[in-house]
This record gives sequence, structure tokens and C-alpha cells, in this order.
Amino acid sequence: MTRYHDQALRRLIKPFFPHYLLDIYYDLRVCLSNSKASFDIIRYFHKDIVNYLKFFISEGRDPFPGLAALLATISRSHIITDISDHMIPILTRSVIRKPQLIIELGVRGGESTFVLERVARLLDAVLVSVDLEDCSQVSTYWKRHFIRQDDLAFAEEFPRWCATLGIKPQIDILLIDSSHLFDHTRQEIRCYFPLLAEAATVFLHDTNLKETVVRRDGTTDLGWDNQRGVIKALEEYFEQRFLENQPFEAFHYPFLITHYRYCFGLTILEKRLTR
Ligand SMILES: C[S@@+](CC[C@H](N)C(=O)[O-])C[C@H]1O[C@@H](n2cnc3c(N)ncnc32)[C@H](O)[C@@H]1O
Repeated sequence: MTRYHDQALRRLIKPFFPHYLLDIYYDLRVCLSNSKASFDIIRYFHKDIVNYLKFFISEGRDPFPGLAALLATISRSHIITDISDHMIPILTRSVIRKPQLIIELGVRGGESTFVLERVARLLDAVLVSVDLEDCSQVSTYWKRHFIRQDDLAFAEEFPRWCATLGIKPQIDILLIDSSHLFDHTRQEIRCYFPLLAEAATVFLHDTNLKETVVRRDGTTDLGWDNQRGVIKALEEYFEQRFLENQPFEAFHYPFLITHYRYCFGLTILEKRLTR
């Protein structure tokens, strides 16, 4: 780590309460260990990370499990995938909503599961993962339920399924990363949005899917032309045109909308209770 990075890192972590400062600082240093890429990730998501760590402090929780989850997520995000740029905001913005029920639509190899499982473990929440294929093995978290089913069919059964397990049928975190097709996504919105809790957060991946996609570090990947399927479904829902190749924020009561253009695009909808 260069002297410049060292000083910058000190500035970044300054807001955290003093008696944990040194431990957090040393843990972060070990995690970052000379890696400029890690440091840039931290800097990019500085606000999210500060809010995340402040959450543990304001809740009077031990921040170290949260820090361990953060460091694990930062390390995992170094494995370049179609969602690697978004691992940190998925973790930080989920945890601060204090979810009890998390639903993941689209599992495959379990990148999003990796993060959502950490959120669930931190808060003792239930994680429900839905996929057409058998993805039961990607997590060992005991409060995870894997449902091998079409996600629209599962939405129909959801209230009954929750009742059987004694779970409140209100979704706190919803991650949509399944077909990426317009008609299917608009149906996911139609079926799942009425099931959202009052202070829910929704993550929609692939809102900037193109034949070639770019990550934040400049690397590229092959995508496919989904005819703007996911972002178009959001445009229809909010009755507004979005420019998905630019970052943007917008407010459509009750949702604060934050869009990241990199890495196939991630759009975050955070329900706000006040206008
Ligand atoms: C892009 S992958 C998910 C990636 C995963 N979220 C991750 O971060 O590793 C899409 C997954 O959605 C699943 N899928 C597609 N259509 C679906 C549907 N109608 N219902 C449930 N799962 C579906 C596919 O089987 C596939 O595993």
C-alpha cells in the first residue's frame, strides 16, 4: 500500500468511532494489502461502507461480524463475474434495512447468494432462493430455503408457503436476476412488488445489458441484446424513460432509485416512507 493510499484510507475510516478505529483500520489494511483495485472499490463505495459500519454502531451491535462480512465480500468481488461490481452495495444497502425476509430470484452459481447469505447471517434473516435449475448446493445457511420453480409460479404460492413455515409474508429484500426478458420482468414486478414490506429494497441486475459490457475497472465481457428488457420493464412501471448507460438517481414515491451502469447494470429501488 502506498503512502498516498495509507493516508487516504485513514481519512476514509475517520468517521468510525474511535475505540474500534485501530482494529478496523488494521483489518482493512490486511484485506487490501497493496491492492489498488481493492482500495478503489472501497473509495467508490465509500458512502455505502460508512453508512454500513455506522449501522452497527447505532444499533449497538458488535461491528466485527459486519466487518468480516464486508471483507469477505470485497475479496469475493475480486473474482470477475457479471455481478462482481455490485457485491458491495448489495451487502451494505441490504444490511441497513434490517431485513427478516430476503428473496433471490435467479441463483445459478450463487454470486448474489454469497452476499445475501452474509446479510441473512448477520441479521438472522430467512433467505429464499428461487431458480428453475437445481442450485440447492450453493449455500449451507440453515435459514435458507431453495425453491426449484418458476419464480412467477412461486409468487402465486408465496403467502401459503409463508403461512406453512410461520413466516410473515412481507419481503424486505428482493433481488431480481433471472430471465432478463421484458415480459417476464414486468410480470415479476407485478407479482412481487405487492409483497414488499414497508421499508423494502429491490435490486434489479442487468438493467444495462448490452452485447459488450464494461466493468468499473475497464475490463469487458460479452453480454447479449435483451432489447433493454429489464430497464424497459422499470420504465413501464415508473412511466419514465431512463438512460441506463449513465448513472442516475431519481425519486418516484415511494422509491428512491439508484442506478449503476457498470457490469451489466444494477438498479436499486429503496422504499421511502415519506415523500
Ligand atoms: C444470471 S443467472 C443468476 C445469477 C445469480 N444471481 C448470481 O449472481 O450468480 C439467471 C438464473 O435465473 C434462472 N431463471 C431464469 N428464468 C427463471 C424463472 N422464470 N424462474 C426462476 N429462475 C429463472 C436461470 O436458471 C439462471 O440460473
